[in-house]
Amino acid sequence: MHIGCCVIICSFVENYNITFMKHYRFVCIALFLIVGCSSPDTLKSYTDAAFSVNERVELLLKEMTIEEKVGQLCLYVGEPSCNTSNNKDEFVSYELSIGECADLIRKGKISSFLKVPTYNQANALQRISEQSRLKIPLLIATDAMHGHGMYATGATIYPSQIGIASTFDTTIAYYVARYTAREMRATGYQWTFSPNVEVVRDCRWGRIGETFGEDPLLISKMGSAMIRAYQGSDFSDSTAVLACAKHFVAGGIAYNGLNGAPADISERTLHEVFFPPFIDAVDAGVYTLMPAHNELNGVPCHAHREFLQSLLHDSWGFDGIVVSDWNDIEKLSSVHKIVSNAEQASVLAFDAGVNMHMHGPGFFKHITDAVKKGAVSEIDLDDAVRKVLNAKFAMGLFENRYVDSGSVQNILLHQKHRAQALRAARKSIVLLENKDSILPLTGKQKILVTGPLADHQGIMGDWVKYQPDSNIVTVLEGIHNEAPVGTDVTHYSISDIKNIADDDILKVKAEAQKNDIVIAVIGDNSNRFGGNKTTGENLDRATLLPSGDQPKLVQALVESGTPVVVVLVNGGPIAWEWMSKNVEGLIEAWEPGMMGGQAIAEIIYGKYCPGGRLPITFPRTVGHNQSFYNHKPSIYHRGHFFGVDVTPLYEFGYGLSYTSFEYSNLQVPDTISSTDDVKVKVSVENIGNYSGDEVVLVYLNDKVSSVTTPVKKLVDFKRITLTASQDTVLEFTIANKYLSLLDINMKKVVEPGNFELIIGNDVMTKEFLVK
Ligand code: BGC
Repeated sequence: MHIGCCVIICSFVENYNITFMKHYRFVCIALFLIVGCSSPDTLKSYTDAAFSVNERVELLLKEMTIEEKVGQLCLYVGEPSCNTSNNKDEFVSYELSIGECADLIRKGKISSFLKVPTYNQANALQRISEQSRLKIPLLIATDAMHGHGMYATGATIYPSQIGIASTFDTTIAYYVARYTAREMRATGYQWTFSPNVEVVRDCRWGRIGETFGEDPLLISKMGSAMIRAYQGSDFSDSTAVLACAKHFVAGGIAYNGLNGAPADISERTLHEVFFPPFIDAVDAGVYTLMPAHNELNGVPCHAHREFLQSLLHDSWGFDGIVVSDWNDIEKLSSVHKIVSNAEQASVLAFDAGVNMHMHGPGFFKHITDAVKKGAVSEIDLDDAVRKVLNAKFAMGLFENRYVDSGSVQNILLHQKHRAQALRAARKSIVLLENKDSILPLTGKQKILVTGPLADHQGIMGDWVKYQPDSNIVTVLEGIHNEAPVGTDVTHYSISDIKNIADDDILKVKAEAQKNDIVIAVIGDNSNRFGGNKTTGENLDRATLLPSGDQPKLVQALVESGTPVVVVLVNGGPIAWEWMSKNVEGLIEAWEPGMMGGQAIAEIIYGKYCPGGRLPITFPRTVGHNQSFYNHKPSIYHRGHFFGVDVTPLYEFGYGLSYTSFEYSNLQVPDTISSTDDVKVKVSVENIGNYSGDEVVLVYLNDKVSSVTTPVKKLVDFKRITLTASQDTVLEFTIANKYLSLLDINMKKVVEPGNFELIIGNDVMTKEFLVK
């Protein structure tokens, strides 16, 4: 209100001689002082939703104390473990008692939580946030990596990321993320720490199941599809959540495959291989990003100012929140030893570009003190806080921070979501071996189903709490559903994936001899909650064989003389050449999610024709580690291994089908200019008897280049479905940037000369000239 308005009010009172205001002159003066002295801006309020998000952020910032600002950078963990509280709705914090926690929220010292098990708890926390001075809502976060699996119960669980990558179908990735976001928002969550867009170059790493594998382009396309789906067209969409590209960068090539161990990578390899998926995530609009646990070339990623500021922010244009990984700021001093205490660590990470701390107290005090002492600038603090407030305003949380409990059950495990879980699982499965076309099984037979994962929730992978059995179709249940009437199915239960008693091995072998076929479901268990995990986060693999006693089990089954079909349930490649040679059928199911058993059975019985392809190369042994398809030309020119073939067991892009596809008429212009895109056409025909999917892979090779370039690199792909005898013509436009390389001066250039376009795993090739 302006002074002018005061004058009008005063004269109104005077003119109409309002009797109850005998001392109207006094009132006018008071009005003048209270209202008239105020600038127009001070009467605007951030609580007024009529203002733009930017205006509201600035209005709120002006009202905040330093403590309240730093509070917006503090993330706490909502639960110590999934089973600690008997009463599911009673809030339990990891770091604090409920009283301490509520007190901090009321004081505006907590911005966000992760792992809040129920929507009632989410609502309870939000209610406390309304008791704070500025009533800033909380962001509630989770690792919804392949479905809202960390939610207490009843969510839809899709295949792990490695399985999603195996589909080579970005629509699958898109809808998995879209439906996950719907389940998250319905239960009070607004932020997922997904997708993981790291490149894997060490098969021993326990977290491969959480990734899209080894190829930068596949990772970029899958990651970007998920980011767009999570975040929706804009945050005002009530089903949008914040996505998080993680972990930046190089956790997939740390020493010995150990999670969080140091990595050393050349600048060239970083730019050629490890950075592109993050650049594409930024281009897709990802709002948050998480640095990696590891150090890179001597600098811990949480203190990497050059990466977090110069590259991420200044070059790539990322303007969202950089959230630390689990206590990795403190580890700058306690583990990496680059500073001597946690206070210095907080300041170092903040200055390097980390905006939010996961998790707990400590950081709050360090940054508050540093700002007060001038060691951290308030301008930088404001910049970081702006990003958090922007998300909270844009998502409409100031207007509504609560879950509508009535709609939760309609959205969790919605029929559409469940159908998508089945669709994704079907498309993710890769057929690795099919000797004498043993698959699909036909007719009624006597079947033995065994193996530690045959009737087990391990099919759901990591980042999933125990879910009601009735929500899940295990492999055994799937086989019961799909086997023709009259099939005799026997289940020999093996309960412990790590230890299988010799007696069990003898008995199961004897049982196998009574059957026509054995289906053995083996692999790894990455689930963090069951207490019997064999791989996963912080559990890496010193061998790539099936874990524990499972090799003995497979050997005994093969020795029984009954044909064996092995179904692998795993996150990272299992490399066992003997098994590949000796079993009749080998199915890579990855961690196929809650409908996985159904999808596997449909493939075994031919209801669905397998079409997934490997998103990661399988080494032949653990000694073949660092086998990847996009290697440099010299890799095999001298070196050999004693007694074993040097090449990988199965290469990226490999996968069998029940049908066959024929390619013809590959068209690429003979000559293009160095600024042109490459237009490609190719015909594909299904020449087999089944309707099925083909993944058409398009690679490029720069025949002679001034610096070494990979023997081939993926530049596009399409998954298509063709019925028997159906054919189609596919067109691709390969963007010009894929012709480029980083020259000796690290400058991006397209070098004139001959290039080769390669379809599939060397199915067809054609050379063309770039002038
Ligand atoms: C993992 C992250 C995850 C975080 C929160 C960390 O240990 O590295 O990927 O987002 O925990 O659960």
